[in-house]
Amino acid sequence: MNGSIDFDRLLEQAQTAASRAYAPYSGYHVGAALLCADGSVFTGSNVENASYSLSVCAERNALFQAVHAGHKEFLAIAIYVDDDELFPPCGACRQVLAEFNPEIPVLYANQTQSVLTDLAILLPQAFSLTEP
Ligand code: THU
Repeated sequence: MNGSIDFDRLLEQAQTAASRAYAPYSGYHVGAALLCADGSVFTGSNVENASYSLSVCAERNALFQAVHAGHKEFLAIAIYVDDDELFPPCGACRQVLAEFNPEIPVLYANQTQSVLTDLAILLPQAFSLTEP
């Protein structure tokens, strides 16, 4: 299944999304591109606020837009971080992704490194109120 996913293209879209981040406080620019079952892609970037805790991550911005547009089946997510340090997505975004696909392939990358993994590895035994 993963073989048919164009991760290079998805990562390019995530990189473009990162360029639209609003991150004047952290300086950490993140972009996400979420592939839906019908082939459509929703992107998001992190949007910060002077009241720091109101900031929203790139991954959740992408996912909420996709759900709002009527999508609930997701095939993959690519995340681009415009920083020398590379970290996997935060716990809150892992939990939000797990709501829809607890095994979604996750590619996260910066300019020099990329890691392809999946949510079952990043968030084993995710909290869920729905039947497996
Ligand atoms: N951030 C994301 O957009 N995604 C993550 O998975 C981790 C963190 C954002 C939130 C905040 O704007 C900045 O990165 C620093 O934490």
